[in-house]
Amino acid sequence: MIKMAKLKPFKDLVKMNKFYYYKISINSLNKLILFNVFILITACQTKTRDTISLKNTFQNKFYIGAAINTAQYLEEDQRALPILNKHFNSITPENDLKWMYIHPYPDSFYFDLSDKFVEFGLVNNMFIVGHTLIWHNQTPDWVFFHKDGEILTREELLARMKTHIYTVVGRYKGQINGWDVVNEALNEDGSMRESFWYQIIGEDYVAKAFQFAYEADPQAELYYNDYNLHNVNKADGAVQLVKSIQKQGIPVTGIGMQGHWGLGYPTKKELEDSIIKFKELGIVAITELDVDVLPSGSGYQGADISLQEVLIEKLNPYRENLPDSIQHLQSKQYEMFFEVFLKYSENISRITTWGVTDDDSWKNEWPISNRTNYPLLFDREGNPKPIVKTIIQLIE
Ligand code: GLA
Repeated sequence: MIKMAKLKPFKDLVKMNKFYYYKISINSLNKLILFNVFILITACQTKTRDTISLKNTFQNKFYIGAAINTAQYLEEDQRALPILNKHFNSITPENDLKWMYIHPYPDSFYFDLSDKFVEFGLVNNMFIVGHTLIWHNQTPDWVFFHKDGEILTREELLARMKTHIYTVVGRYKGQINGWDVVNEALNEDGSMRESFWYQIIGEDYVAKAFQFAYEADPQAELYYNDYNLHNVNKADGAVQLVKSIQKQGIPVTGIGMQGHWGLGYPTKKELEDSIIKFKELGIVAITELDVDVLPSGSGYQGADISLQEVLIEKLNPYRENLPDSIQHLQSKQYEMFFEVFLKYSENISRITTWGVTDDDSWKNEWPISNRTNYPLLFDREGNPKPIVKTIIQLIE
C-alpha cells in the first residue's frame, strides 16, 4: 500500500523546480491512481460477490424458482432464507396447495398455510406458482367416492372439480401468477393415464380443469405439468393433449416440464427436441428441476427391509460426501441444461428447482427412503455448489 507520509504537501511541491515537481507529481499521481483503482476493484469484487445471484443474472431471461416447504415460507428455516432472498424470484409450494392439504374434507378448505405461502411471495415480490389443482396423487378418496363407497358420476365429479378450482384459484386471484392446472395426466407412451379423473369424467377432464381455472382467474398463467417429457412419446402425447384443448378455445399458457432428471438423462438432443415441440404451443417452464446422482432405485420402492439392507451400500454410496468425480458429472449435466435453457430463453419463462438445498430434497426419500442424495444447486450447509458460479458465468 502507498505510504501517505512520503507525499509532499502541495505547498512544498510548488516551490520545487518544474521538472522535479512534474516527476514527483506523476509518480505520486500514478501511485494514487493505482491505489484508487485497487480500492475500486476490491470494492467492486466485494460488491459483485454479494450481489451476483442466479435471479439477478437471469433477470432478463427467466425466473429462477424454488419449491419451498412450510418451514421455509414460515421463515423458520434460517439456512434456506438467505438463499431464497438472494437467488430466487419465484416460489412453488412443495405440498401445501395440493388437494389433500387444502381441501381435506368435502366442505372444509384449509387456507391457513397457503395464505402464508402467498404472503411470503407477495412480500418478497416473487412470481408465485400454484401447484397443483388436478392430480391423481395426494387427492383424498372422498373426491371420487360417496360415503357409501359408490363412485361419483361424471356430472358429480365435474361439480366437485369446479368447486375446488373456483374456490382455490378464486381466493388467490391476482396473487398467484401461474397454476399447474393438471399434473401428470399421461402415461409414458403418451396415452391418457387411467386415473379416477379419466375413468369418471373421460378424456375431457383436462380441458374442463383448464376451463374452470381460466374462468376463476383469466389473468393467471395456466400450465399442463408432467415428468419425463424429454421422452418422445410422452412429449408427443402432451402436444396432442394441449393442442386439442387450445383448439376448443380454452387457454393453456404452456407446458411445465418437471425436470426430475439424472446424470445420464435427458440428453441434450432429447431436451432440445421437446422444447422445440412445446414452444409451438406457448410458454415452456421447467417446474421441478433436480439432478439425481444416486444409482437408480426404481424397482426397489417398497422392497422389504432385508432386501434393502443387502442393497443399502450399493444404492446409498455417498453417505458421507459426494465424490468430486460425481459432482463433476452433475455439474456438466446442469451446465448443459442451462445452455439449452438459455438457447431457448425467449420461450422459457421459469426454471424452478424442486427444493432449495440438498437436505430438503424428496430425492433423499424416493424411490428408497433414508438415502443421501445431492440433487440441487445448494449443498446441505446451504453453500452454493461450484455449478452455481458456472451457470452464472454462462451469460456474464
Ligand atoms: C411430482 C409432483 C410434485 C412432487 C414431486 C415429488 O413431481 O408434481 O408435487 O410431489 O413429484 O416430491
